[in-house]
Formats: sequence, C-alpha cells, structure tokens
Amino acid sequence: MGSTSSEQQKNLLSKIATNHGHGEDSPYFDGWKAYDENPYHPTKNPDGVIQMGLAENQLCFDFIEDWIKRNPQASICTTEGIQEFKDTAIFQDYHGLPAFREAVAKFMGKVRGERVRFDPDRIVMGGGSTGANEMITFCLADPGDAFLIPSPYYPAFDRDLRWRTGVQLLPIICESSNDFKITKAALEMAYEKAQQANINVKGLMIINPSNPLGTILDKETLQTIVSFINQKNIHLICDEIYAATVFSQPKFISIAEIIEGDGSCNPNLIHIVYSLSKDMGFPGFRVGIIYSYNDEVVNCARKMSSFGLVSTQTQHLIASMLSDDEFIGKFIIENSNRLATRYKNIRRELDKVSIGCLKSNAGLFCWMDLRKLLKEPTLQEEMVLWGKIIKEVKLNFSPGSSFHCYEPGWFRVCFANMDDETMEIALKRLQKFVKRSKEKRCGSKEEILQKQSSAKHLIS
Ligand SMILES: Cc1ncc(COP(=O)(O)O)c(C=O)c1O
Repeated sequence: MGSTSSEQQKNLLSKIATNHGHGEDSPYFDGWKAYDENPYHPTKNPDGVIQMGLAENQLCFDFIEDWIKRNPQASICTTEGIQEFKDTAIFQDYHGLPAFREAVAKFMGKVRGERVRFDPDRIVMGGGSTGANEMITFCLADPGDAFLIPSPYYPAFDRDLRWRTGVQLLPIICESSNDFKITKAALEMAYEKAQQANINVKGLMIINPSNPLGTILDKETLQTIVSFINQKNIHLICDEIYAATVFSQPKFISIAEIIEGDGSCNPNLIHIVYSLSKDMGFPGFRVGIIYSYNDEVVNCARKMSSFGLVSTQTQHLIASMLSDDEFIGKFIIENSNRLATRYKNIRRELDKVSIGCLKSNAGLFCWMDLRKLLKEPTLQEEMVLWGKIIKEVKLNFSPGSSFHCYEPGWFRVCFANMDDETMEIALKRLQKFVKRSKEKRCGSKEEILQKQSSAKHLIS
C-alpha cells in the first residue's frame, strides 16, 4: 500500500465498505475472537476458552451421518449418485430445484405439526437466513426507513438488516418484569416514538422462537402483533428459524397458523424467513428461504436471490433428505428430546449455585440471570463481569447488552454446540466462579457461620 494514509485509503472505498455497520467490534464478536485465539481442547488445550456464544445445533449428527451412509445416491460425489453430477454442476436456475422447494415446503409443514401447509411456489432461496433477511429488507424498505424490533434481539441483525440496506432498527423495549413479553403498549410506544422523530416505519420484525430468550410467542401475542401491523399498514417479518428447536410444551405456533384463521389480516403484509441452520444444524449449507404471502415480493425476491442462491449440490442432497418422511419424523422427535435433556441439565446445575434463567422451551441457549453478581446494576458492570468470565473462567457467553437488552446482568448461554463432557466442564467452571464471587461478597461458608455465631452471642 506504500505511503497511502488510511484516510486516503478510506476515500478510495465506498461508504458501506468503510463504515462500522458490520458490527464486528461488538462484545458478541469479541467473545468469538477470544475463543478463536485460545480454543478449549480436552487434551491439547484443557485450559482454553469454551465457546458458549455460538447458537449451533450439534446434537444429532450421529443420526444424520447414519442417514447419509444409508443414502449414498443423495450425494453426487458417490458411485451411486455420480449420474446426477453433470446436470448439477452445469446450470443453476434461480427458482431452485422443484424437488428442493417441495421438500422444504413439506418440512416446514411437518415442523409446524402439519397444522399448516406451505406452497412450494412461494419459496425463494437465500444464502442462509442471513441472506434471506437482508433480501426481504431490500424488498420492503428504502434507506432511512425503519423496522421495529422487540429487544433483546439477535445481535447480527444490526449487520443483516441495516448495514448494506441503510434501514434502521428501532427497539420495542421488553422487560424482565413480565418475562420480556411483547405488549401492545410497548408496540404503540415504539411506533409513536418513530412518528415523533419523523421516521418512516415500514415494518415489524419478530424472532419466534426468540433468540436470545428461547421463548415462544403465545397465540394472543401473535394476534396482537397481527392486528397492530394491519392497523398501521406495515409489514411483518417473522424469523422462524428456531421452529423445530421447541423441546417442551407449549407447542410452537407459526404466524402461518394465525393468519390462516384471521380473515381480517392482509396477507400481503406477512413474510416468513426460515433456514436449516438451527433446526437441522446445517449453517454451513447456507440454506435460507423467504416465504412471502405477497406475490410481488415473491417475484422481486426471486430476482434478487441471484446474489445468494443455495448451491444445486446442496439442494439436491437436502431435497432427498427432507423428503424421507420416516427419517424426518424421527429426527424432529430426537432433536427435541436431546435439546430438552441439555436444557434440563444446565438448569439443574445452575440451580445448585442459585443461578436462575428465564423459563423457556425452545432454542439452543438459555437466558441466564447474573444480576446478583453485578457490583452495580449498570451496563458497564455487566461488561466488567463478562470480561472476568472470559479471562478468568475461560467461558465465552454473550452479554445481554450485545442483544440490546436494556437491563444489565442477563447473558445468553448456548448449550447445543458441544459434547456432554465439554458441557460438564463448562458448568463446573461456572459453578466454581459463582461460588467464589458470592464468597468474595459475603465471605466463605465458614466465615458466614462464624459471623452468625458471634451475632448470636451478641444477642444472648
Ligand atoms: C434469529 C436468527 N436469524 C438468523 C440467523 C442467521 O442464520 P443463518 O445461518 O441461516 O444465516 C441466526 C443465527 O444465529 C439467528 O439466530
């Protein structure tokens, strides 16, 4: 680069290239860097950082690998599948393989308990739901427009929905006092605030099941949301990528079920984003989709999808896997059983050191309450605690502030991206840290007993 100053270099690039919209410099990504620099390994690096900041689902790979072995024709790189190789390699149509769209539509229905049907012709491919979310934003809003979004919310939305589109995200503030529920009052307040600031609100974005809360929206809340967006005549984007991670009652209700039974809802305003990154555990395959009830959006998104298609090879494999009804039926049950076991374990172990979590029944994480461990209830103290946990305890989980949570002391802990042994070690480290922190504050067990007995002497 010779002597070009960084300022001159900056001017050579676009505003998008040089702004900070990617959000890479947030604690959410800093935690990942801390892990990358010193990753835990049971024998090679037992004192390394354990990654609990990554919402990955690795619990069912034995099940999936077994299917792959039994179905060699599903892969184009095997003797049994090679005859599909040439056709798969030479051409890609942005409509996607019909077999792929049919299989995804069927899978979406299955995951939602067959209570609703999806039309394969409405399925548009995106590069993961990251690509799908950006694409739907491009279709619905112009730079400067805004989407309302309940907070806390998935940190990378600041990148996915805002960075290249120029769209703003305005939080709907949800609070722990009612388990972070989305209320009509909170929706109205966020909308009103935008109006006062002269911001054009184009839609509302929800994540159901929620990342980071792991909770699902009940029927009444979904109905409130649908009537709100209809009344304001704004769009509703529902990111439902955790639909099959629901591991206990109550059951998941998709927005598709709500609008089917609601004649007063304008379906042109409703769009679902889905992917196989969480439900099947395949983020590497980049299978994301938009399912819109609006024909114009389907047409436009399909044209835009050229920028983020799913490779034909992946479509081919996925079409075959998802249309195996028996396998998928068993997978959905096994996946949810294994998640339920993990969730129970983590709750039980945290309970032993009196640490609570928001009650949840979905997702790949829990929303842990460490408010008791803060010196003061401030976001600065949350960062101090987070830094300590990464440096001293060598656990990376993400602070609530990175999810735009306004109440300090909440942390998201991912529990499905590691094996049982690593999980056990992570929980032991955490228990030890909590005990030590409490002792530092109140004294050790012996000191407490001593204090209690001298207090008794004083009274008697
Ligand atoms: C709510 C939500 N939407 C989208 C994504 C991105 O997923 P994908 O890998 O399909 O791009 C994530 C990933 O964590 C997420 O939690």
